[in-house]
Amino acid sequence: MAQSGTTRNRVAEKTPASDLPQPVKVQQVRNTKIFINNEWHTSISGRTFPTLNPATGDTICEVQEADKEDVDKAVAAAKVAMQLGSAWRKMEPSRRGRLLHRLADLVERDRLLIATLESLDTGKPFLQAFFVDLEGSIRTLRYYAGWADKIHGKSVPVDETFMCITKHEPIGICGAIIPWNFPLLMLMWKIAPALCCGNTVVIKPAEQTPLTALHIGSLIKEAEFPPGVVNILPGFGPTAGAAFASHCGIDKVAFTGSTEVGQLIKESAAKSNLKRVTLELGGKNPCIVFADCDLQLAVEEIQKGAFYNQGQCCTAASRVFVQEKIYEEFVRRSIESAKKIVIGDPLDPQTTHGPQIDQQHFDKIMDLIESGKKEGAKLEYGGGYLGEKSLFIQPTIFSEVKDSMRIAVEEIFGPVLCIFRFKSQQEVIERANNSRYGLVSAVFTTSMDRALSVSGAMETGTVWINCYNALHVQTPFGGYKMSGNGRELGEYALAEYSEVKTVTFKMSETM
Ligand code: NAI
Ligand code: MG
Repeated sequence: MAQSGTTRNRVAEKTPASDLPQPVKVQQVRNTKIFINNEWHTSISGRTFPTLNPATGDTICEVQEADKEDVDKAVAAAKVAMQLGSAWRKMEPSRRGRLLHRLADLVERDRLLIATLESLDTGKPFLQAFFVDLEGSIRTLRYYAGWADKIHGKSVPVDETFMCITKHEPIGICGAIIPWNFPLLMLMWKIAPALCCGNTVVIKPAEQTPLTALHIGSLIKEAEFPPGVVNILPGFGPTAGAAFASHCGIDKVAFTGSTEVGQLIKESAAKSNLKRVTLELGGKNPCIVFADCDLQLAVEEIQKGAFYNQGQCCTAASRVFVQEKIYEEFVRRSIESAKKIVIGDPLDPQTTHGPQIDQQHFDKIMDLIESGKKEGAKLEYGGGYLGEKSLFIQPTIFSEVKDSMRIAVEEIFGPVLCIFRFKSQQEVIERANNSRYGLVSAVFTTSMDRALSVSGAMETGTVWINCYNALHVQTPFGGYKMSGNGRELGEYALAEYSEVKTVTFKMSETM
């Protein structure tokens, strides 16, 4: 398993403390500018912005702030790189695969430094960044490196006077707008399939977390991708991000983030040039725990699902429906398990829980926790934060949550586990599906029949049976309903980065 919360724990727990990877001392961040045409640029406006360490509130460094004019410059570079006859257009597909493998080799070489930068910028525990984010990123690059020369069209039988073939061609210039919760991994989920299919890319990392994307810029150059194939523009959403969505030179935008911004992006895509759009948005993911399940397994998996990455996951296990008979025991064991979580300095190998990303997000989560208390949910554990002016929120467990409460409806994106009670299978299916979201769901049961029938009824893009966060680069990921459009990962993602061309030959002679 590449990208779940369990990987870090399994590998880290088996490794003697003295052999665990250690964060690198970062004296000065090297890559802080805008990356266009394999060169580093200052912003046209002359503006910079600080990126902060959420664990301390300190500024890590100032970064050049891209805006619309810088986006125009990057799109122009990406267009030249994509022109007929360019080095990238003429490149043999297997060589594109080779370049992706070379990039993966360089990410492996710099793994400690990249994991350290990711931990400093996001506040996520260093070991989690090292074992999960970096492992997932490397696997994504290698998986799509393998696809580069295996993207086949078809020959299509029509009437005998014609010969028809289909070819899968790159779409053109693909924009990638990246969130702050998995900055490196989400970047790889987008650029690896885009490059493998022969597109060029312009990337906007989240304003909170630009550093690992910028390091990748230096590796793109070192791997010797042709100039202009990959361009990276740190900047803000309403300026640089909005410029991607409305740009007539960008042919496709892939976005991961909030549902609200996803709607804005689709709207400007429609109003500008009808660019293709794939969206990976929020979730309010139901987990159904039947009385016949392996209870300890369910408690442990759901706990990781709820608190992993400080709850800042679109896949967060946020609505946990537990069957009456085992309800009290599930709550009791969940509290026991939450007590084992170690909150602290993200660079410390003992730490399993870091700070939230920023003050605004911290305030949103605390407001939702307060609403849970006010609306009558039972606070079983946590509910507070550590110290003054800190962004560390305690893992929080509410029981007796009712379907209409704000914590039951809104995406919290924080470390809050909400436990609901249910009686029958039919009732719980209806309640689980009663959401505008449809990203993932999970079912815990020892009955194969029940697992199959409930998974068939779930209105979600992924259903996990007796596991959680079991993401694999080989399998597609994406949402039903307002959780998104399209799929990332696996063979399915190739279709999101290709156009299909039909070529029809008229034959002058037939047999
Ligand atoms: P956001 O959707 O504003 O940010 C995600 C990315 O979109 C960032 O790169 C941002 O700069 C960019 N962006 C913002 N406004 C834009 C615009 N008008 N046009 C183009 N790009 C734009 O998310 P935010 O404000 O950081 O978090 C708010 C909520 O969104 C979270 O509480 C969570 O519920 C959800 N979220 C979901 C994520 C997921 O993995 N699906 C990731 C991040 C946030
Ligand atoms: Mg930051």
